[in-house]
Amino acid sequence: MKKLTLTDADAVEFGKMVRKIKFFASMNMGLLERILNRITLFQYEKGEKICRQGEGGDSFYVVYSGRLGVSVKNGLFSFSRRVAELGPGDCFGEMALLTREPRNATVACEEDARLFVLLADNFDQVISENPAFSEEIKKLAAERGFELKRRRQV
Ligand code: CMP
Repeated sequence: MKKLTLTDADAVEFGKMVRKIKFFASMNMGLLERILNRITLFQYEKGEKICRQGEGGDSFYVVYSGRLGVSVKNGLFSFSRRVAELGPGDCFGEMALLTREPRNATVACEEDARLFVLLADNFDQVISENPAFSEEIKKLAAERGFELKRRRQV
């Protein structure tokens, strides 16, 4: 993991990318600008884990480039199962921040990746300032939670 300098070109790309994400699209420019002032850019290598199931979470991520795998383990001695793939424009890490509970899955890089990272305090602020964003991200978290629950039953 390596912190990168966020250039103006990266900021423009972030703006373009998140406009395509339904819940970010509801944000006004002022809010988007404030997020941009707080967001950091990190590079991860293939094989690196961004977050681990069961650990506490302090960040929300938007994939800038690369491919990541989401996997879950149902018991201490079970194998982990890959449940989803994430790529540019996808976001993750919202569940632990919304519930204050441990991470529900492990997210690992399947290719070198660059991620925009928003710390929990800033994420909370965005949530409280933007009801539409808050509603959409909660919906996404609920869908993912439902999917994880469904998989635990099969
Ligand atoms: P969180 O629990 O904070 O950390 C792991 C993240 O993996 C989780 O938030 C979600 O953002 C993401 N995640 C969990 N389940 C899925 C899924 N089925 N599809 C895509 N992403 C998921």
